[in-house]
Amino acid sequence: MTLRKDFLWGGATAANQVEGGALADGRQLANIDMLPYGPDRSAVGAGQLAMLETKSAYRYPARQAIDMYHHYHEDIKLFAEMGFKVYRMSISWTRIFPNGDDATPNEAGLAFYDQIFKELRHYHIEPLVTLAHFDIPLALIKRGIDWRDRRMITYFTRYAAVVMRRYQGMVKYWLTFNEINILLHQPFVGGGIIFKPGDNQVQGKYQAAHHQLVASAQVTQLARQIDSENMVGCMLAGGNNYPYTCRPEDYQEALNRDRDGYFFIDVQARGKYPNYALKKFEREQLIIEMAPADQATLAAGTVDFVSFSYYSSRTVSAHQEDYAQTTGNIYGTIKNPNLPSTKWGWQIDPLGLRNSLNQLYDRYQKPLFIVENGLGAVDHPTETGQINDDYRIDYLRQHIQAFKDAVTIDGVDLLGYTTWGCIDLIAASTGQMSKRYGFIYVDRDNEGHGTFKRTKKQSFYWYQKVIESNGEVL
Ligand code: BG6
Repeated sequence: MTLRKDFLWGGATAANQVEGGALADGRQLANIDMLPYGPDRSAVGAGQLAMLETKSAYRYPARQAIDMYHHYHEDIKLFAEMGFKVYRMSISWTRIFPNGDDATPNEAGLAFYDQIFKELRHYHIEPLVTLAHFDIPLALIKRGIDWRDRRMITYFTRYAAVVMRRYQGMVKYWLTFNEINILLHQPFVGGGIIFKPGDNQVQGKYQAAHHQLVASAQVTQLARQIDSENMVGCMLAGGNNYPYTCRPEDYQEALNRDRDGYFFIDVQARGKYPNYALKKFEREQLIIEMAPADQATLAAGTVDFVSFSYYSSRTVSAHQEDYAQTTGNIYGTIKNPNLPSTKWGWQIDPLGLRNSLNQLYDRYQKPLFIVENGLGAVDHPTETGQINDDYRIDYLRQHIQAFKDAVTIDGVDLLGYTTWGCIDLIAASTGQMSKRYGFIYVDRDNEGHGTFKRTKKQSFYWYQKVIESNGEVL
């Protein structure tokens, strides 16, 4: 045996990318429901183009997604058939508090997740629940309240308290904010922020970050009060930065880019702002408003484990403009000549996963959890409907081997691994269905056509064997 006996194998999704049912049973829209398919998606996500009203010229893929709202029995059964020990999912905030600050929670929304957790329990699958995976009640944003506004801490904590109490005993593993560092790159997605001309954008993003960090710490404390069995993690959009050359200034650039993400985890795992961040605020004259009790809250609300997504490494240089660029998860990078890329330009680097695990473990000395990893690829069903996705198996095999090496050779403490998009879902960056990650194919296309029929891919049977052998058979 190489991995711990209770290693948590499974898959991951997010409410906005699978559920659909955007207005079902009292739910109201969230920021993420306003992200259109097509060329304007990125500008809306970045808070540079306002999209607060539904416009007929656009299509909004999250509103139907893969209709898991009506297919969850079938989907969870398929996860169980693969042998999942854990299923990472998120709760949609607006199913519970449709307007964000409602006087009482929406019972129908709570009842929906009762069913999900009951179903998971039936199959002995442990839920790993993200409280905020890119969703913020639109009603609040329309009233001018986004994460730059301190009231968000209250609304979010209230929502978290309601669900943590309701699902006590059903859910033990919680994540507060998915890819919390996305706030710096896609502030509408991460923080509901739409910039106005003249806004100090950097200050606004770090003010929002402060509120999320305080909210995260508060919720972490609350989780422990509600149930001492609860385990709360933070979540980083991971993947370290390589310097393009061994010029010291390139190394410095890589260090600084890594710190853009570590900044959040440093606070969540260590309970205080790192000096390099305080110096940045001072140097750039960023005025971040903090309440007197915030420092104590941050110190008392450190997380139990550190989770992260990993798709690829990045490459940077102090002379970034001299090199060809490519895309990556959330933001771009220099094209690394040593690595192959996916169809979407994301570079494939399994050893980078092992290195990231080591960096995170060295830095925090807390158990780690890989909660997203996978290959976005176009699948072509054969005439008989089979999907032979050996390219996906190949990608996953290499990454599993890499984290096994991190555990067995380097001694990293790893709790589990959930592949991203274990069932095909809407891509966050592009809104496409054609960028598929799943072991389960969903009949739905980029234009929103299809039957939603689920079909097992070749990788489904492969992953089943991986889990059955606790990662020995790859
Ligand atoms: C992460 C997100 O950014 O990467 C997921 O947490 C997202 O929500 C995933 O889907 C993969 O990105 P994409 O753009 O290929 O869906």
